[in-house]
Amino acid sequence: MTTTPGAPDSCIVVKDVGMDFSSKSGTFQALSEVSLNVERGQFATLIGPSGCGKSTLLRVIADLLQPSSGSVSVFGESAGQARKARNFGFVFQDPVLLPWRSALSNVALPLRVSGLTKGEAEARARALLDLVGLAGFEQNLPSTLSGGMARRVAIARALTLHPSVLMLDEPFNGLDEIRRQNLNEELQRVWMESGATAILVTHNVSEAVFLSDRVFVMGKGPGRIVAELVIDLPRPRTTVMALEGRFLEYVRTLTAELTGTYAVEDL
Ligand SMILES: Nc1ncnc2c1ncn2[C@@H]1O[C@H](COP(=O)(O)OP(=O)(O)OP(=O)(O)O)[C@@H](O)[C@H]1O
Ligand SMILES: [Mg+2]
Repeated sequence: MTTTPGAPDSCIVVKDVGMDFSSKSGTFQALSEVSLNVERGQFATLIGPSGCGKSTLLRVIADLLQPSSGSVSVFGESAGQARKARNFGFVFQDPVLLPWRSALSNVALPLRVSGLTKGEAEARARALLDLVGLAGFEQNLPSTLSGGMARRVAIARALTLHPSVLMLDEPFNGLDEIRRQNLNEELQRVWMESGATAILVTHNVSEAVFLSDRVFVMGKGPGRIVAELVIDLPRPRTTVMALEGRFLEYVRTLTAELTGTYAVEDL
């Protein structure tokens, strides 16, 4: 399906966004004329070589960074208004859990801050931990969880305030292939149940194909979008499906697009 920027079912519209970082040694152009459109309820992915500006773009969309040029709108409002309305759930590249608080208390914290009583916050936090497959680990401190479990706590926490946009910056980086596939299936389920629009950053081609309705391939020097791929596979997608012809065809196409974005020094 194609959309025009600003169409009524658009969730995220990024128009001609540029991002320059200034330092003593001069100005670095991290993003140049980035435009993209994600429809309500879609799962979109940004993929590209290290340093092409994926995290920067995600931060601009989430209003954590002000772009140097261009505009972002979320459900027809500015990114700032969307953030204030608590539309965003963000899972950062490195999961940041408070080490002295249990898994339950880490997830309950944003709910407490938003004004829920302890009982209400903990009940919802328990339900979310259950949703990400962590029932029974509520009282564990982050230091006693595996990397994959800590990332699931971060995902549960990002879902606390019913965000309409879920942003995930390499949530499963550094995990082994099997655990990652497991978590991809869980993330797909959680996303389908939540009805949220999702934007994922990943370096993993199979993960991008497995999860996405739409993949934006980014290149660097400066960071920009070089290709867009629509993944038209039925849902829920399964591990078995990921071994079949159409899936593998998408993997091949995306790999070919991506290979062209790497500079010689990256290889
Ligand atoms: N606050 C900042 N100040 C200066 N330069 C920055 C800043 N944030 C990012 N950059 C630069 O912008 C470029 C894009 O960074 P970004 O973190 O968005 O890349 P990325 O695509 O997420 O990379 P990775 O895949 O390694 O996470 C990099 O060259 C980085 O050094
Ligand atoms: Mg990054």
